[in-house]
Amino acid sequence: MLFGNFVWEVLRRVVSPLICAFLPARHGCTGKFLPPYLITDMANTILVGAQWGDEGKGKIIDFLTEKADIVVRSQGGNNAGHTVIVGDTKYILHLIPSGILRAGKKCVIANGVVLDPIAVAKEIDGLREKKVKVTKANLLISDCAHLVLPYHRAIDEQRELKKGKNKIGTTKRGIGPAYGDKAARVGLRMSDLMQPELFSQKLKERVKENNAVLEAFGAKGVKFKEIEAEYLEAAEKLRPFVGNTVVYLHEALKAGKEILFEGAQGTFLDLDHGTYPYVTSSNTTAGGACTGSGVPPHRMDRVLGVMKAYTTRVGEGPFPTENDEFGDMLHGMGREFGSTTGRARRCGWFDAVATRYAGMVNGIDDIAVTNLDGLDSLATIKICTHYKRGNKKLEVPPSDMLQLTDCKPVYIEMPGWQTPTHEAKTFGELPPNAQAYLHKLAELTQAKLTIASVGPNREQTIVL
Ligand code: GDP
Ligand code: IMO
Ligand code: MG
Repeated sequence: MLFGNFVWEVLRRVVSPLICAFLPARHGCTGKFLPPYLITDMANTILVGAQWGDEGKGKIIDFLTEKADIVVRSQGGNNAGHTVIVGDTKYILHLIPSGILRAGKKCVIANGVVLDPIAVAKEIDGLREKKVKVTKANLLISDCAHLVLPYHRAIDEQRELKKGKNKIGTTKRGIGPAYGDKAARVGLRMSDLMQPELFSQKLKERVKENNAVLEAFGAKGVKFKEIEAEYLEAAEKLRPFVGNTVVYLHEALKAGKEILFEGAQGTFLDLDHGTYPYVTSSNTTAGGACTGSGVPPHRMDRVLGVMKAYTTRVGEGPFPTENDEFGDMLHGMGREFGSTTGRARRCGWFDAVATRYAGMVNGIDDIAVTNLDGLDSLATIKICTHYKRGNKKLEVPPSDMLQLTDCKPVYIEMPGWQTPTHEAKTFGELPPNAQAYLHKLAELTQAKLTIASVGPNREQTIVL
């Protein structure tokens, strides 16, 4: 077995890149001599959340990182909160890829991320306090990543206040305004922060404009001098990590390295494909990994969709299968409180209309189902197979929010297993009803089930 693995690794990592190096770089040569379907365990994988975020992506990323060389965050900001439990220690990662917890792996914060430099510096300090090594050998930050500045946070908050009961329920991390500035071409980037004089000059102008916006909201403006001092201090902490991540990733691809793209948020929080306007401000779906990293689509081998065995959502917006009684049960078990803001997550039954759509938009090849153990005590479990709006049967979620709010979920019922699953190590060790439930989720989502998770720890992961 060990010898077999060794031969396989030599083939994948040495022979394949060598043959490729001597092949003319022509269309169709993926940089790996072995076709992706033979590289069954890892290859270049985009991991996406298939629901409304918090699907357990952090845990699955950490599990898969064992086989990867590089882990990349390509969108979102510190609105994300990815929980990883290693031994007795719990880590919640917001901006730094979850791969940081495994020695010898490179983590990349790529161009598509919006980055609060003070939050990253704090996250690095927090990890170091827990004895996690963070050096320029294992962390690289794109010089094109846009900065989140205090006026973004202030405007985020003011917009939410102004919306009142129609608020989005953002994390108030300034994500929307920061991506807004990027699209409006007035954002500041890491490369600006690395040039103190230029940064100060640009910042001064931006503070002026944004303070006028804040005043229009009737709010206090932000202080240029304070931001300048704080940000330039963080800049010196981050300087060793900053570079061109696109070039780094392409060199890694040439060398046959395997890359894992750590999605943040989830499909229905995607700016284009989610439940707009109750979404975040980046492309959380698979395509976002390409634009957000500069790695082209034909270099991606696999899309893995992560989903809970039920559904949760934090923040406002339509949620067809929401069920308060089920939510109370999960909250009573101490589960489903947000990793970033601590808010109680809204909970509901598994929504196969949503996951099927996520399968389509992302091109999901296979799925990882987490939190199966959350259903252990139930006698009967509901799965939403389609929606009804008036007399109409809907197989896909309508894009219009008012129509979606109007949709009634139609359920099938599956018998529960009423047995603890957290100690199961193989699929066969799961109760038959739990196996049937998982098969049903995969069948309705129209994807292959490859991972089932029965607890928050690394060991509580079943590979099929
Ligand atoms: P992410 O944002 O997608 O990384 O997910 P979060 O970390 O925000 O939330 C997922 C929560 O579920 C975290 O508290 C994880 O520790 C926990 N978790 C993940 N998989 C499992 C599982 O299979 N069982 C249990 N009990 N908890 C899990
Ligand atoms: P991870 O990566 C769950 C939600 C917020 C709000 C909406 C917009 O941990 O899955 P924003 O601050 O982004 O402008 O908020 O998006 N949201 C998340 N919900 N998990 C997340 O990230 C989220 N990031 C943002 O609650 O409804
Ligand atoms: Mg989360």
